[in-house]
Amino acid sequence: MHSFDSSRRDFLVLSAAALATVPAHGAESLTRQATGVKVGELTATSARIWARRTKASSRRAGGVLPTPGNKPAVLPLGYDVGQLDGACAGDEGQLRVIVRDSKGKTLHKSDWAEAKAASDFTYQFAVSGLEPATAYKFTVEARGEKKVEGKEGTTMRTDGALHGAFRTAPPEDALTAIDIAMLSCQKYSERDSRERGFQIYDAIAKWAPHCLLSVGDNVYYDSDDPKVNSVAVARHHWHRMYSQPSIVDCLRKVPGYWLKDDHDCYSDDCWPGYVDEKMKPFTFEQGLGIFPEQAPLGALPYRRFKWGRSIEMFMLEGRDYRTGNKEPDGATKSLWGAQQKAWLLDGLNKSDAQWKLIVSPGPLVGPDRKNKHDNHSNDAFETEGREFRKWLAQNSRITDTVWVNGDRHWQYHSVDPETKVNEFCCGAATDSHASGTPGEDPTRHRFHRVKGGFLAIRVRVNGSKSELVLEHRDVLGNRVYGHTFA
Ligand SMILES: [Fe+2]
Repeated sequence: MHSFDSSRRDFLVLSAAALATVPAHGAESLTRQATGVKVGELTATSARIWARRTKASSRRAGGVLPTPGNKPAVLPLGYDVGQLDGACAGDEGQLRVIVRDSKGKTLHKSDWAEAKAASDFTYQFAVSGLEPATAYKFTVEARGEKKVEGKEGTTMRTDGALHGAFRTAPPEDALTAIDIAMLSCQKYSERDSRERGFQIYDAIAKWAPHCLLSVGDNVYYDSDDPKVNSVAVARHHWHRMYSQPSIVDCLRKVPGYWLKDDHDCYSDDCWPGYVDEKMKPFTFEQGLGIFPEQAPLGALPYRRFKWGRSIEMFMLEGRDYRTGNKEPDGATKSLWGAQQKAWLLDGLNKSDAQWKLIVSPGPLVGPDRKNKHDNHSNDAFETEGREFRKWLAQNSRITDTVWVNGDRHWQYHSVDPETKVNEFCCGAATDSHASGTPGEDPTRHRFHRVKGGFLAIRVRVNGSKSELVLEHRDVLGNRVYGHTFA
């Protein structure tokens, strides 16, 4: 068996070969899947492939721009979002996925699944029985009813195909090199390439990590125009975001794990029961329903994934179970809820991975601005935050466990003075969306940069030993900071 590093090179070659035959993103590529594909919840033997059937093969260009002064920032209820720029109207029909090995031999062909309006014409294929650390090609086919010349009625005919590739996680007992990219806070109005959408996705695709962590604020319901006031407008936010060329091209080759935060759930700093007047009649609960429709997700929003013995990732949910932000802080106030917290402590205790990564939408250490009352580094959740930081320190976890988060729009590495817990924030997805820092704090910051970019999380292996390297990168993929845990 060859080392993981060399098989990763095979994977890069495979991805290139698998995608070489695919036409470049654009009108000439007939996919009928303008919103692309998302490969998620990847394990050593399974994956969940998200697909959506659309009327056209690319997003609407030259549509209505819903900016204040042109169209109202809040659209009248019932407005046809299909008129909007970047719209990707869905279409009833069927989807199926075909998984092939690296030589192109078909290994798995799903049944045709219905793309229905009730689920926004999306379908998630659960693919199982895969081999660990193995590269696969896949094709998502779309078909719809067609009229046949000179015949009565209609027939079903395949009318689009989208191609991609992914590689499964290593086997349970393997200690192998892993590369992970992490980003958050991609605001549509702050995208940095007119032609491609977000430069950061091209940088990540070029680096070709094993997987991507997209840890919240995937869209901004309450603060991007048009403001979300209905399920249709909320879905439009996802359509225009995930139909951009840089994102479509990246996600065909890079599988991911998606977490949600406040803006892609409902509204700024929201909690269950919160009502934002400007978004009425859209509700928090509707937002909760849309996330697992638009991103590949299993049964629970918090979950863990172990990549061999190298690393275990604990992905946290920060909105569904939280006590209202304005409730007084104390022993019973929780951002996670009792069940998730017990699951996290138990999982960290039992994990035999060399490195543990706690992947959270929001911060634990900070520092954050004094006027924020939303996360574990703020006064609003101080008790639970401090209790957990102390638990990490007392259980000797700070030496092999690192907290990574998004949400804050600046990049930093900080160390809690009391417990020495390490925290890394990837920052916002574009430079123009970076801001809001309380300023550099020499008592906690080891690195601080008010610019966009992503986090490169890398396990490097040497014999039976490994090291964890965390690098901040800019939106073009250039390294701007790095820290190594040995
Ligand atoms: Fe954000």
